[in-house]
Formats: sequence, structure tokens, C-alpha cells
Amino acid sequence: MTEPEAGGQGAPDAVDLIRAKRDGRTLSAADIRWLIGAYTDGLVADEQMSALAMAVYFRGLSAGELATWTSAMVGTGRRLDLSAVPAPTVDKHSTGGVGDKVSLILAPLVASCGAAVPQLSGRGLGHTGGTLDKLEAIPGWRATVTASEFVTLLSTVGCVICAASDDLAPADRKLYALRDVTGTVESIPLIASSIMSKKIAEGTDALVLDVKVGRGAFMRERAAARELAETMVRLGADNGVRTTALLTAMDVPLGRAVGNAVEVAESVEVLAGGGPEDLVTVTLALAREMLALAGLDADPAAALADGRALASYRAMIAAQGGDPDAPLPQAAHVRTVPAPETGYLRDLDALAVGTAAWRLGAGRARKEDPVSAGAGVLCLAKPGDRVERGQPLLELRADEPGRFDRALDALRGGFEIRPEPPVLGPPVLERIALPE
Ligand code: URA
Repeated sequence: MTEPEAGGQGAPDAVDLIRAKRDGRTLSAADIRWLIGAYTDGLVADEQMSALAMAVYFRGLSAGELATWTSAMVGTGRRLDLSAVPAPTVDKHSTGGVGDKVSLILAPLVASCGAAVPQLSGRGLGHTGGTLDKLEAIPGWRATVTASEFVTLLSTVGCVICAASDDLAPADRKLYALRDVTGTVESIPLIASSIMSKKIAEGTDALVLDVKVGRGAFMRERAAARELAETMVRLGADNGVRTTALLTAMDVPLGRAVGNAVEVAESVEVLAGGGPEDLVTVTLALAREMLALAGLDADPAAALADGRALASYRAMIAAQGGDPDAPLPQAAHVRTVPAPETGYLRDLDALAVGTAAWRLGAGRARKEDPVSAGAGVLCLAKPGDRVERGQPLLELRADEPGRFDRALDALRGGFEIRPEPPVLGPPVLERIALPE
């Protein structure tokens, strides 16, 4: 049975819409458009939108409501026009993970294979880092780019990673800040509309979503991650953005480096044809998805091996004022964590390592906090490695020695050594696409 639609005659009233959603009714398209616009313009109060977000948290949104909600969010700002870019545009969005430096590698890699990668990114909050914070560890690199520079860089260098301007989906900026303080972040329709409104406004032709699953990720359960991915893939298609998703594992940190400068250094290793296997596997899987969506028949592994991806990275960094040859900032203090016994490293908890890196200064607790470029954690061993008692397992880096104790607390119980080797799961778990 379909629920009757709320609203109807006369001007919408926020309290009526809150009651309607609270009672499980479907909001009309006109009411949703009014609500999102009026909230962005300050005509609906924060406390009313909080109540509505909580009602959505419990009652959800139908597919139709969600499509309208998302396009209304896009409509509160401008949608970039990338039609002047002479290559197919394709972007990637990750829901965030520990050691997830894939964007730094992927954008120049995919650009070196012939696509244009427009990537509007954010700063980190909490235990997962932000791409802009990582790139800002590079001396001279700047995150702000004007809309016309954005198109020029895409047309010449082939990739741009920069901060989103305030006029892209401004409703999301306001609503996300509200959700953050009202316990309403963890709602699949609200997450999906938040992420997709920004990506649709960015103007990309195609999008690959990296939905992380596991204890270091936003989505701990695979079923919830799959539902989020399916919802976003559908929203992309409804808004003219060809979208697919990969579910990837986030129980252990991706690669070995967790922090800012340390993640830049590891990204350069991969771009130069080396780097940790799990990071290379996830990056290549995402690159292949992006190139397929862009309609390009290219081999990204060859671009890593023959220096094309690295050349593209150097051009991307230099175009935004960065010096790709400058030494990266180093933290003043280093401490190692030794293996307490001999055996195989069975487990390394991504959340524990992410929290440790954050406490060392690599991340921020409030959005106005500064981050330390040099702070972070290097995982000197990864699950499956054989280790000897006393061998360093983790290297902790911080600008202030007073930060080590709390980082070490976070790591307590965060790894396990056993006599027998562990059975390791694959880093790429599942692909989500609309049926052909
Ligand atoms: N990231 C976003 O951009 N929005 C959300 O709601 C959650 C994560």
C-alpha cells in the first residue's frame, strides 16, 4: 500500500512536513524542494531541520523522495559546466578510510590514460584523513582554484584536486554541519544525497564510488555499505552521471602510511611503479572502473610502470603551485612499537591506527583545528608478515613528544601476533552497477 502524500494545498509549513515524515508519510516533490531551499535560505530553522533529519533517520526516504531531495540540494547552488574539457570526465569518491591516499595516485594515473579527472575534495575530520590535508603537506601546493582555472587545468594537465567552492550544493554544507551535531549523520538517504549532490554539482560525466567496509570505515557492515552504494549508483544515473561502485575492505589500514606527508611519500612510490600490494590492487581496480566508464581502452598498470602516471602527478602538483621535488615535512619525534612476540602478524586494527595517527596530530577534532604535516604512523609490518620479538611493528611520528602516550593507548589491543599465518581476504569485495 502506498502512503498518502503529505502537503498539497496552500504554502508548505515546516511543522506539517516534520509531522508527516515522523508519521511515515511520503513528502511531495514540491514540499521537498521548498524545504531544502527554505532551509538553505534560513527560512526553516535549524531545530526544525534537525527534527526532520531525525524523522528521515527513522522513516527513510522513498526512491522518489530521495531523487527530488538530491536534485533540490544540487539546485541550491550552481552546477559546473565541464563541456569545454576535450576529454571524457570521470571522478572517484571514497567514503573514507585509514591510509586511503588513493585519490592522490588515481587522479594523475587516470589522466595519464586519457581521461580528465575533476576532483573536488575535503579536509579530514576524525580518524580518516582528508585528501587536501595530505596534498597541503607538499611545499607551495594550494587547494583553492577558481572555476575557470578548474576547466583550464582539466583541459591541459588532465586532473585537478582542489577544495569545493561554497556555491556548490550549499544546502549540503549547512545540513551536514547540522547532522554532525544532531546524531543524524548515519542515515543512508542523507549520506547518499549529501555525497551525490556535491558530485553531481561538480559536473563530471561519470563517477566511481569507493565504498569502504569494515571497522576503520564509516560503514562497518557489508549489507549497509551495499545499500549505500546501490542508492548512490541509482542517484547518479537519475541525474545523468554514469556511476558504478566498488566495495573495498577497510579492516586494516590501506598501504603502510597513515598521516599526511607520509601518505604523499607512499603515493609517489606507487606512481613510480612500486608501493604496497593492497594499495596498488585497490588503485588499479578503481582506475579500470573509471577508464571503462570513460569509454577508454587503456592499461593503468602500464602507466604506473612506464612513468606516465608519475609525470602526470608532477604536472598536477606544479600546476597548483607545489614543488614535487621539495623535501616533505618531517615530524621532530619518532617512537617505535616493537613486536611483543615472534609469529605472524594476524591483525592490525584500522580504527586503532587511524585514531593513533589522529592523536599524533595528523587529523583534527574540530574543523578549524590545524593538522601536522609530518605526524602519522608507518605500519612496518602488515597482516600476514612474519615478525620477530622486538622487531619494530609501527613507527609513530609527532611534532610534540607529549602526543605519544595517547597514541599508544589507542594502539593497545590493536594488533595480534599468532604462531600460524592468517587467511587474508581480498581488498576489493564487490562491484555494484545498474543492470545493463
Ligand atoms: N560524507 C559526506 O559528504 N556526507 C555525508 O553525509 C557523510 C559522509
